[in-house]
Amino acid sequence: MPRVLIAFYSRSGVTEKLAQAVAEGAQAAGAEVRLRRVREIVSRQIMESVPGWAEGADRMNAQYEAPTPADAEWADAIVFGTPTRFGNVSSELKAWVDSLGGLWFQGKLNGKVGSAFNSTSSGHGGNESTSLSAYNFMAHLGLIIVPLGYGDPIMFQAGTPYGATAVSGQNATQPTENDLEVARYQGRRVAQVAGALATFGETATKG
Ligand SMILES: Cc1cc2nc3c(=O)[nH]c(=O)nc-3n(C[C@H](O)[C@H](O)[C@H](O)COP(=O)(O)O)c2cc1C
Repeated sequence: MPRVLIAFYSRSGVTEKLAQAVAEGAQAAGAEVRLRRVREIVSRQIMESVPGWAEGADRMNAQYEAPTPADAEWADAIVFGTPTRFGNVSSELKAWVDSLGGLWFQGKLNGKVGSAFNSTSSGHGGNESTSLSAYNFMAHLGLIIVPLGYGDPIMFQAGTPYGATAVSGQNATQPTENDLEVARYQGRRVAQVAGALATFGETATKG
């Protein structure tokens, strides 16, 4: 049974919905899933400056544990989810990634599967650049990056070949059913690749 860690950040719940759908897809493919929300790094004052942010964070922090390096070591696959921040991953997600330096130094993440998804507020607001910026740290961690390509018919309706996406507009519009279906496909695909790599590793070890 492949072990999939989904580590996401979200303030108004859009990326959270994608994360839940990735989890559903991975579980449907037989994976054991840990769904984790990384924590705030900005002040409470900033969180309270936009209606819904502080309430959303409080709700999600009560619902999801924070990811730890031990979760990353446990996982066969790590899927990173984030809202776009100026076309890049959020500082909150990146701070958690930076906490994995010790595991990186010991080579303990090398060969695990990695994948990424995100949400933006505008249609050309950086979905693809955000996924691709996650590819940078995934490469450094030694993760085997799993993109989506056009391996499922839903990819011709939504998402990007680099990872699942949603466009939330000005009022935190929730992901469409097509967006969620792409995210489920991402979860399935990641679990299938992680399972196949684990089998490969066993075969290689046994000679
Ligand atoms: C500091 C900051 C920078 C942002 N940068 C972008 C951006 O470059 N492009 C974009 O479309 N949306 C941008 N957004 C909007 C969020 O990425 C978007 O609302 C996202 O869907 C929120 O996801 P969440 O509901 O999971 O928090 C930005 C938001 C903030 C607070």
